[in-house]
Amino acid sequence: MANSKSHLKKAKNFLTSALVFHTPVKALSAHGLYVEASDGRTYMDLASGLAVSNIGHAHPEVVRAITEQAQNLIHSGCIFHYDSIVDLAERLASITPKGIDKFFFSNSGAEAVEGAIKLARITTGRQGIISFLGGFHGRTFGAITLTTSSARYSRGCHPLLPGVYHAPYPYCYRCPLGDTPKKCSVQCFTYLETMLTREITPEEVACMIIEPVLGEGGYCPAPKEFLVKLRELCTRHGIMLIFDEVQSGFGRTGEWFAAQSYDVNPDILTMAKGIASGLPLSAIGASKKIMSKWPPGAHGTTFGGNPISCAASLATINVIESEGLLQNTQKLGKVALRELRKIARSHPCIGDVRGMGLMIGVEFIRKDGTADAPLLQEVMAKCLDKGLIIIDCGVNKNVARLIPPLNITKAELLLAIEIFKEALT
Ligand SMILES: Cc1ncc(COP(=O)(O)O)c(C=O)c1O
Repeated sequence: MANSKSHLKKAKNFLTSALVFHTPVKALSAHGLYVEASDGRTYMDLASGLAVSNIGHAHPEVVRAITEQAQNLIHSGCIFHYDSIVDLAERLASITPKGIDKFFFSNSGAEAVEGAIKLARITTGRQGIISFLGGFHGRTFGAITLTTSSARYSRGCHPLLPGVYHAPYPYCYRCPLGDTPKKCSVQCFTYLETMLTREITPEEVACMIIEPVLGEGGYCPAPKEFLVKLRELCTRHGIMLIFDEVQSGFGRTGEWFAAQSYDVNPDILTMAKGIASGLPLSAIGASKKIMSKWPPGAHGTTFGGNPISCAASLATINVIESEGLLQNTQKLGKVALRELRKIARSHPCIGDVRGMGLMIGVEFIRKDGTADAPLLQEVMAKCLDKGLIIIDCGVNKNVARLIPPLNITKAELLLAIEIFKEALT
């Protein structure tokens, strides 16, 4: 077995430089909240494989479902029918926001986003797409056009998909329009309305795609008022409202989907990450009426919705339900916010602590309020030294994102926060 140093050398030799690993940790195995590494240490994982291992690594129920399914049927490629894909679609219809009741399965978040904007264009017969500044929707061509959390994803790739417009995201801590949360009257929404009179008419807009809780762009929940207004605007003009819940879905915010936390229903929903506890799976959900406009064969996939991923997803949903993990997320999310805000009061380098459920962002700032990415990097390195894995996000890479598995215990969570505090101090 290669040690970490020789492994990293081999990785450098044979893996593309485009692929960036968040830590130098070489995992040998991972169970629940913990990663056993080649350096002999055990790390507490507050990154959950990028918000994927929502019920912890290698949950026994998921392992059992994968094993059983693999022993019977691994692949279909839509050549023949099988149970797990239909059972999963039926199950998703019972947990997704109201009005979402038919599904298309693919392999990754970006693929779901690509399919969702295709569906919106086909359904409406319009071309315009509006996404929101700071959003992240993936790294394929259509998805990088929508993505504005960093220009590095599209650098050297222009021209991108035509017909895409970007509106400000209501990132209230750093208001894109210079307002403050106290006196804000949802200026971003007014700006969006102006766009619809100056840049593109609403009759030409197929869809608006938004992360209800900004993920990669800074772990920032949109204010409810903004999403309610967005819903009304889309309904008024026959525009498809797409919620990209690739990151915020599957219990992360304390409901199955953030849409339910906000009580705002999208027309189209994209999901991935936590859907199958680490097996490649994503889905586009929409109403029967919208899905019926997608002609047979207009979209397809060889691997999407493969039997094993679907079985893993069904097991994941069962575990979230049977272990009461939505409730645990709501409860511990409040504990985390309270404890982190306490720390922020005595550490002026923390400008903001925010989040929903166990999707929590801690924003690092300098004395003048500007983003302090180097300090966060230092804190993350110290956390890693102390056996805690935390990753960053944010347009300026100055936001620590805390995304533990939803079945973390209160004691484990408090210990992780204590380590984070020690690293800060
Ligand atoms: C909101 C959102 N959409 C889409 C994606 C892309 O997903 P994937 O990396 O599986 O293509 C991500 C990934 O981080 C995401 O957070």
